[in-house]
Amino acid sequence: MQKPRTLSMWLSAGLLALLFWSGFMPCAADAQPAEPLTNLYDRTRLDLSGEWHYIVDPMRTGVAKRKFRRDFPADTPEPPDAEGRLLEYDWDAAPTMRVPGAWNTEVDALRWYEGLVWMRTRFAHDLDPGDRAFLVFEGANYETQVFLNGTRLGMHEGGFTPFAFEVTNHLAAAPRPDGRHSLVVAVDNTRRRDALPAADFDWWNYGGLTRPVSLVIVPETFIHTYTLTFREADDGRASSPALDAVVNLDGPGAAGQSVRVSFPGLGVEETATADATGRATVRLELPADGFARWSPGAPHRYAVEITAGDDAITERMGLRTVATRGTQLLLNGEPVFLRGICLHEEAFTDEEGDTMPRRALDWADAERLLRAAKDLNANFVRLAHYPHTEKMTRLADSLGLMVWSEVPVYWEDVAYGRPHTLDLAREMLRAMIDRDRHRASIILWSVANETPRTDERLAFLRTLISDVRRHDPTRLVTAALKVRHDGLVKRVDDPLGADLDVLAVNTYTGWYGTETPDAIPNLRWQTPYAKPVVFSEFGAGAMPGFSGDATRRWTEDFQARFIDRTMEMAVGVPFVRGTMPWILKDFRSPRRYHGRYQQYWNRKGLLNEAGRPKQAYATLRDWYNRLADERPSSTSSDASSSPPNR
Ligand code: GCU
Repeated sequence: MQKPRTLSMWLSAGLLALLFWSGFMPCAADAQPAEPLTNLYDRTRLDLSGEWHYIVDPMRTGVAKRKFRRDFPADTPEPPDAEGRLLEYDWDAAPTMRVPGAWNTEVDALRWYEGLVWMRTRFAHDLDPGDRAFLVFEGANYETQVFLNGTRLGMHEGGFTPFAFEVTNHLAAAPRPDGRHSLVVAVDNTRRRDALPAADFDWWNYGGLTRPVSLVIVPETFIHTYTLTFREADDGRASSPALDAVVNLDGPGAAGQSVRVSFPGLGVEETATADATGRATVRLELPADGFARWSPGAPHRYAVEITAGDDAITERMGLRTVATRGTQLLLNGEPVFLRGICLHEEAFTDEEGDTMPRRALDWADAERLLRAAKDLNANFVRLAHYPHTEKMTRLADSLGLMVWSEVPVYWEDVAYGRPHTLDLAREMLRAMIDRDRHRASIILWSVANETPRTDERLAFLRTLISDVRRHDPTRLVTAALKVRHDGLVKRVDDPLGADLDVLAVNTYTGWYGTETPDAIPNLRWQTPYAKPVVFSEFGAGAMPGFSGDATRRWTEDFQARFIDRTMEMAVGVPFVRGTMPWILKDFRSPRRYHGRYQQYWNRKGLLNEAGRPKQAYATLRDWYNRLADERPSSTSSDASSSPPNR
């Protein structure tokens, strides 16, 4: 290696050495993560959930090559003293934790831990000749390195979107003596200024393999990604509805492969031949009055089958359109009012008090959260402030809830001027859209929450908005904006509004600041934009069980009065087309310090951490029952009792 001559060369050499010793510098040999496969849930999968051994590594020695050489990625040599050297680790003797799971919840001692944790599992799989295999991570927070049988596969940054590595050749190589492969994963949840979210955010910094890990098996030539787009005039008038399909095959037999797309429920199908790149495009004309559109009150979904050579996959999707017309929000061409509620990705706890909720939702957790929203007579959920588990968006499809899904571009600290952060935001947005583009429930992609009015931020978000329009022209774009306060006059005039379809604002007058809820009816809202506005957050803290004085902060009565006043104000603003109080349930946050009322819980939930209702839950449900009667959306009754299909 050439000796550095100038100071800057010495400095850059030193920085590279530091990064390498830290073990987190992307190695030149890093394979870029593979493009995740569309519709993971209909693939042949070996679920790697279970008890994984773990080693907590705050000093990042697991990959360092210092004198006490450790090689966590290579697993434990067999036998441990094979070369007579000192080994200060033994994977089989390490403790275990449940995966998927956040270490903050799974291990009491790690409740507050921020740093690096190594996890290892072993699995056996004999790959059939001609099959291919991908390791798929549905989500891991925050920076992840993956090693298989001691070989580094690569790394991924971001806590809430899926990533995958092809491991076909690694499995074909000789597995370890006991016939099993060793998968070692290093996850680091240290907050960083150039990350997304940045270093300051109002939710718990859950770390680890917080969503399932699986080994996906596909034929040598397989259906890698696809896009199914329902097309119809936005005004819902009878027109020539159609489903456009773009299917991308991968493998030696991709070019020239015949691809069939069929709609068994409607008796239509088309076949096309993949071009030299493995892409096939077909359009299925649908009978104008021969199908039911998806809506919260009638969440119809159809099976769309795609077959190509040895591979076949079924997508279950609803058909609907969403658009705006002036200040109206249209679902299937008819005005709709979003009776919403906000959620974080946290399960209800089994008991109340000093417990840690699970970040890793299973199907029952996800259904319990969404049914608590349905029981409010809600038709909409804001899944804040990052892409939630795919279980939530799939259940919203089947239970009948419209969805707001967002990337964690959150508050002032984001490094809006750093190219790395913008690249990261664009990648997160693309991955969120690619994963969920077939979920009829999602009507809004959000690119930001409460971000400052700076030129850097405006440029940053305009890039994201143009990305959304390119990746998914079928949905609307929004962002939760800061309003300009002029006493009780609130101006929704953020320059970003010109680029959005729907303007969203979080309003906390009556909780933060000096006004009381009595001021809320006197608020005056103004906007220069002729676009729908939604109140994307409003809430007040309430200590469960503390009640009796509606004028006293932290009582349930005060919270109920705050919600009631804000709803009364909201329905009176002519361009407001939706309300989503902050938040369905109390959630963990390191920023909520009050020793009597919070104890590191954000207590703005209408339910407490275990799901016990506060007074405000009934207050909001009464409002939504009234609104459902007065402003029926485009469907029959919103109560969908049908069991969810995944
Ligand atoms: C903000 C922010 C939320 C936060 C809430 C609160 O609006 O968007 O993430 O939890 O306020 O103050 O509780």
